[in-house]
Amino acid sequence: MIGTDIKRAKALLQNNQLVGIPTETVYGLAGNAFSKEAVVEIFRVKNRPAFDPLIIHTSSFERINEFVHSIPEQAQELAKHFMPGSLTLLLPKKDILPELVTSGSSLVAVRIPAHPMTLSLLSQLDFPVAAPSANPFGYISPTSAEHVEQQLGDRIPYVLDGGICKVGIESTIVGFEKDEPVIFRKGGIAIEKIESLIGEVRIKPHSSSNPKAPGMLKSHYAPHIPVLIGDIEQLLTQLEPQKTGILSFRKSFSLVPSKQQIILSNKGDLSEAARNLFAGMRQLDKMDIEIILAELLPEEGLGRAINDRLKRAAAR
Ligand code: TXA
Ligand code: MG
Repeated sequence: MIGTDIKRAKALLQNNQLVGIPTETVYGLAGNAFSKEAVVEIFRVKNRPAFDPLIIHTSSFERINEFVHSIPEQAQELAKHFMPGSLTLLLPKKDILPELVTSGSSLVAVRIPAHPMTLSLLSQLDFPVAAPSANPFGYISPTSAEHVEQQLGDRIPYVLDGGICKVGIESTIVGFEKDEPVIFRKGGIAIEKIESLIGEVRIKPHSSSNPKAPGMLKSHYAPHIPVLIGDIEQLLTQLEPQKTGILSFRKSFSLVPSKQQIILSNKGDLSEAARNLFAGMRQLDKMDIEIILAELLPEEGLGRAINDRLKRAAAR
């Protein structure tokens, strides 16, 4: 069921049940992070492998200390600017969090989402919530309450409806290795913005063989229909346009029926493109087409996170 009743969401979470929650990035599948029972249920409902740890969501920087030992100076600097916001920090965890939350890692991923409804909900709870994106494992992340309801509605009692996600791609994950900042996942805060605060950061290459950071899995965020990345114009010469879907940055293509074309931002705005990306993929995935052609965006700002998602959607 979808609704806007924060009290109801609160009561369910207090009762160890799961609730779909809005954030500015994507919708989350939330459960009490201090409750082993609720955390087990998150993995079960998402069909998520136990090696893929969860992000903890809380309402204020002070409350992070409830479940984290220490916060490096650079992390504090980032938190000052991007919390609440689309930043997730990897920090040393306290024992109060069940092992399963972090898949056995001594680090926990922490984020304060910038969504008024969810911040209000979180501030009324005396525990933080663990919340992965509210999609079945490996599929496209949800950016509306309807997306969550369509896929998980029969497995969870409630989805809190906070409208369409304003950022539209998941948070940027920053960790520290030998005191050096490392990007574990490109996301809603552009790397350039992070670097302007704390200097150059290293970007971790993703790997499917050793999924230390599972949003790093090579194939992820994937529609059921195969995705092919390249020069759309050129790829179209080898395919049947009637059976083809298009995910383009700015342009449309006269050979392909217009309803089979998603244009991410005709004015070329990367934030708008990010906002439209996952809904566009979902829309195409429902059509009677055989393949989705996509093109990469400029490799700058949010374009880098968008390109990362496109490549993973295309990886098989
Ligand atoms: O924007 C977001 O971050 C959304 C919203 C709901 O907050 N959440 C989200 O969660 O994208 P999820 O579970 O779909 O992706 C979390 C990623 C996973 O790839 C996981 O591997 C990584 O965060 N992660 C979580 N804890 C980690 C840890 N302790 N060490 C390394 N990576 C971690
Ligand atoms: Mg996810």
